[in-house]
Amino acid sequence: MRRTISSAQLIKTGVITIGIFVEVAFNKSIFPSHMDSMWIFLVWCIGILGPVLFLFCRQRCSTSGGLPPGPPGWPVVGNMFDLGSMPHKTVAGLKKDYGPVVWLRIGSINTVALLTAKAAAELFKNHDANFAERTITEVMKVHDFHKTALSLSPYGSYWRVMKRIMTVEMLVQKRIKETEPIRRRCIGDMVEWINKEAKAAAGGESGRIHVARFVFLASFNMLGNLMLSRDLVSPESVEGSEFFAAMIELMEWSGHPNIVDLFPWLKWLDPQGLRRNAERGMARTLKIVGRFVAERLKERQLGGGAGKDFLEVLLECEGNRNDDQRHNISEHELNVIITEVFLAGSETTSSSIEWAMVELLSHPEIMRKAKNELARVVGKSNKFEESHIESLPYLQAVLKETLRLHPPIPFLVPRRAIQETNFMGYQIPKNTQLFVNAWSIGRDPECWDDPLSFKPERFLGSKIDYKGQNFELIPFGAGRRICAGIPLAHRMLHLLLGSLLHEFDWRVDEIGKNAMTDTRERMGVTVRKVVPLEAIPRRCSTNFPSE
Ligand code: HEM
Repeated sequence: MRRTISSAQLIKTGVITIGIFVEVAFNKSIFPSHMDSMWIFLVWCIGILGPVLFLFCRQRCSTSGGLPPGPPGWPVVGNMFDLGSMPHKTVAGLKKDYGPVVWLRIGSINTVALLTAKAAAELFKNHDANFAERTITEVMKVHDFHKTALSLSPYGSYWRVMKRIMTVEMLVQKRIKETEPIRRRCIGDMVEWINKEAKAAAGGESGRIHVARFVFLASFNMLGNLMLSRDLVSPESVEGSEFFAAMIELMEWSGHPNIVDLFPWLKWLDPQGLRRNAERGMARTLKIVGRFVAERLKERQLGGGAGKDFLEVLLECEGNRNDDQRHNISEHELNVIITEVFLAGSETTSSSIEWAMVELLSHPEIMRKAKNELARVVGKSNKFEESHIESLPYLQAVLKETLRLHPPIPFLVPRRAIQETNFMGYQIPKNTQLFVNAWSIGRDPECWDDPLSFKPERFLGSKIDYKGQNFELIPFGAGRRICAGIPLAHRMLHLLLGSLLHEFDWRVDEIGKNAMTDTRERMGVTVRKVVPLEAIPRRCSTNFPSE
């Protein structure tokens, strides 16, 4: 099949090339700053190849041999420049021209994207095992993170043992329930921090606060206490602050787009320095976690140890070595798994809550209903407890609706074909990267009435849940590689949002309104709002006496 180039595409290529030359000639970027180093490097590659590219681009690359349909790609870069800064949205838009299964070439990476619930159902029901490997990016390889972290490790015996430990021994309902008081305390701290900050921001009155920041700190502290029985975000904890800073840096590096992932032959050069930076960040993080573990081992030798945290569970698994189904968890694996829980659980949770608050502030009627339900079920003068969650169908519906429209990891964690696979009549080659576009699936008009509207009511009386059985709602993925943290995330999300709503009345001023209507997103470990939500909290005077 031969495809012709449209004039719009030609213009776009022209603009890109001009951008590159402007950058070289005047040392001025016309592209977003995070792309700077990538662009500068591209100048040297594509700038030289430019004229050749233009000659070739008349004959766009085509797909053939039973591959799914997809937009024609350019030589060398494939569809890379067609995806834009929000690839999940761009790729979702390809459905109208190419259908639910789309073929892309991103640099040198062959990629297939699934855009509807039907295609996702076909994958998870019939081909899950064939796509159970992950795509590994260069930055993920530092300190063998990709071989050791559960989320990235090869689909095999190590992954199986670690997934069992995480889902059957660590993140099970019983153990999560036992740690409820820890989360309650972290929520109490968050409420106090918000109170103080809001007052400080407005000289005693209520001022604007950056909502996601507080939720992130609270989530981080919850995970710190669950894993290690430590307040990591506390002015008193020097080690905690050090760890927090190292993790933030690591998240920053792992979220950057890396040219090496698209052109692996550039690996030796590490042109953006991302691998070097991630290497340093990971070394720092693992060293601090290693110190926490060493302290615990010493405490254990002295007959102490912190009751029921997840580090104890991991150490117990390590101690129990006589069963050959078990794996001897090495010190390095222990440190990586602990680090991974922070990476997997903190930003996902806080970005979900930020979106929930944006939607609620944009729909005051829905906010009012959620608050009324809380007042009725929890009681105006009582604290929100996890035991209330089951009796709060409207709050649950608000969170489902938020995750439907704003899944924090819109392509899930990308998978990879273990072998050549016949999928919905197409022949998908071995090693093809797979994007399951949860963002597009959550807006699939075949599954959802009025899909773009925020309507929690659609979930009332419905059995649709996000636990991997309903393929139209898969913010946590599905199949073998489904998120290991769902039971914990479920509780944290409800507890955080429920407490924010129950403890405070929220409003936005003009500045906050502008931030809210700016729906631009940026890709990192998760998708976040570019302009963060800033809202004004006022402690509900009817609930608790404000100090
Ligand atoms: C709002 C919160 C969260 C969201 C939206 C989320 C989402 C996801 C997604 C989309 C995946 C990939 C699933 C797939 O490939 O099918 C995943 C995997 C994973 N998540 Fe989460 N997650 C959240 C919270 C957590 C928490 C709190 C933890 C741990 C405490 C966690 C641990 C993991 C792990 C270990 C994996 C890898 C599973 C595997 O590869 O087998 N997640 N998560």
